Amino acid sequence: MVEKKRPPKNNRGFYVRMKLLHKHGRPQEKSCFYKYYKWVLWFSLSLYFFTSYLISSNPHNKSTSLTKTHVSNSKSTIASRALFESTNTTALQQVQINQALLKNLKIFVYDLPPKFNTNWLLNERCSNHLFASEVAIHKALLTSDVRTFDPYEADFFFVPVYVSCNFSTVNGFPAIGHARSLLASAVQLISSEYPFWNRSRGSDHVFVASHDFGACFHTMEDVAMTDGVPEFLKNSIILQTFGVKHKHPCQDVENVVIPPYISPESVRTTVEKFPVTRRRDIWAFFRGKMEVHPKNISGRFYSRRVRTMILRKFNGDRRFYLQRHRFSGYQLEIARSVFCLCPLGWAPWSPRLVESVALGCVPVIIADGIRLPFPSAVRWPEISLTVAEKDVDKLGKILEHVAATNLTIIQGNLWDTSTKRALLFNNRVQEGDATWQVLLALSQKLDRSYRVSRVSRQLMSDT
Ligand SMILES: *[C@@H]1O[C@H](CO)[C@@H](O)[C@H](O)[C@H]1NC(C)=O
Ligand SMILES: *[C@@H]1O[C@H](CO)[C@@H](O)[C@H](O)[C@H]1NC(C)=O
Ligand SMILES: *[C@@H]1O[C@H](CO)[C@@H](O)[C@H](O)[C@H]1NC(C)=O
Ligand SMILES: *[C@@H]1O[C@H](CO)[C@@H](O)[C@H](O)[C@H]1NC(C)=O
Ligand SMILES: *[C@@H]1O[C@H](CO)[C@@H](O)[C@H](O)[C@H]1NC(C)=O
Repeated sequence: MVEKKRPPKNNRGFYVRMKLLHKHGRPQEKSCFYKYYKWVLWFSLSLYFFTSYLISSNPHNKSTSLTKTHVSNSKSTIASRALFESTNTTALQQVQINQALLKNLKIFVYDLPPKFNTNWLLNERCSNHLFASEVAIHKALLTSDVRTFDPYEADFFFVPVYVSCNFSTVNGFPAIGHARSLLASAVQLISSEYPFWNRSRGSDHVFVASHDFGACFHTMEDVAMTDGVPEFLKNSIILQTFGVKHKHPCQDVENVVIPPYISPESVRTTVEKFPVTRRRDIWAFFRGKMEVHPKNISGRFYSRRVRTMILRKFNGDRRFYLQRHRFSGYQLEIARSVFCLCPLGWAPWSPRLVESVALGCVPVIIADGIRLPFPSAVRWPEISLTVAEKDVDKLGKILEHVAATNLTIIQGNLWDTSTKRALLFNNRVQEGDATWQVLLALSQKLDRSYRVSRVSRQLMSDT
């Protein structure tokens, strides 16, 4: 039942050689690479036109040979991306426009006393857990080309406060009771020592809120909603993991949905042990909290009882590998799985979204109304499945249907490396990575830049 997706041998050889070349750039391999490159480009071109002809002429084509060639085609990513860009001028122009935007963007990073940020790094978990984008984005900005040391020429002001590193609770989860006061004192400090906060009332200032319900800073949705976004942050830009398509008090602020933090090193280590394209022996996987009898906590149930339904309905089903306990080797399990269930917890988002994509397991998103990160860079509908919470008892049938029809196409899209890149934060910004996507999103909010608006004001008063 588990489909095998082995690429042709020679194709994999090419792929591996490309990686080697990327790492070491040895000259004797280079000529070999160019020989292959031309061949693969030519091959992909013919395949592209051939398959697109087949697909457009018969949209319900289910021939396995067609889907297989499609997969191996999209795996030679470099070739297919070059192909994509050369046949689509709007996409090429978009890339150039993006690069130009980032070239002009300037961000000032406040140098706050260490109690606001670096002191927390004494605990190693601070820069590695699922909320660690607050650390990762700060780090990446410090060495980034968009950083300016002259606040007068900055478009945006980044306020680096780590609020998710107080691991003082019994279960080891961070206590965020202090988040509001810590942020408030940071704002107090910058607004009294610098003129930039007051002149824009914070509207060009950027914060990270990577906790469950963004800048509401509470794990329980009802409390989070009642508390809302602190008044002093309401004018600013919040980079947050939380996002839903409907109106919600915890996104009632200018915001950018970002992915939860997964360490790129951990992904690399797992992929080295278990390559993305290897045969996957687990069909549907979930490891995490699944309560048999979830408690009614002020009218709310954990995961809106979705995880309980999954456990009740599919525990013991041989197609499903369901585990309730923590296990440090879970990334290898994801790498071995075809489908990875990503049901909501208290919040709709989950680190599994990123881990599944990074490790090539098709994410099955069960979280009604979730707003996913970077939709223009990550074509979520093409690389994942969405199952309505009310349909969770039909999960077996739904996944069977996909496995029998479009699974290989979804996997082909998923295994494109640009998608994975967009969801991971690196210590230094890399083109297309998660911090880069944040910068791109900010560059689309330049109307908030005091510098830009001042230039246009001057132009108006000069005439
Ligand atoms: C070209 O690129 C744009 C933007 O990425 C996309 O919306 C459009 O569908 C592409 N067109 C073709 C013919 O691939
Ligand atoms: C960390 O959390 C604990 C428990 O909520 C709290 O008592 C303590 O004040 C917090 N520490 C800091 C430095 O805010
Ligand atoms: C900004 O405004 C606050 C409150 O009105 C004031 O206390 C503070 O001194 C101002 N900051 C500067 C740098 O003028
Ligand atoms: C859950 O508890 C609330 C009161 O907190 C009650 O109004 C509601 O009916 C309960 N829901 C269920 C399904 O038991
Ligand atoms: C695959 O099929 C499922 C169910 O038929 C559908 O919901 C989904 O949009 C399809 N995905 C792609 C990428 O074709």
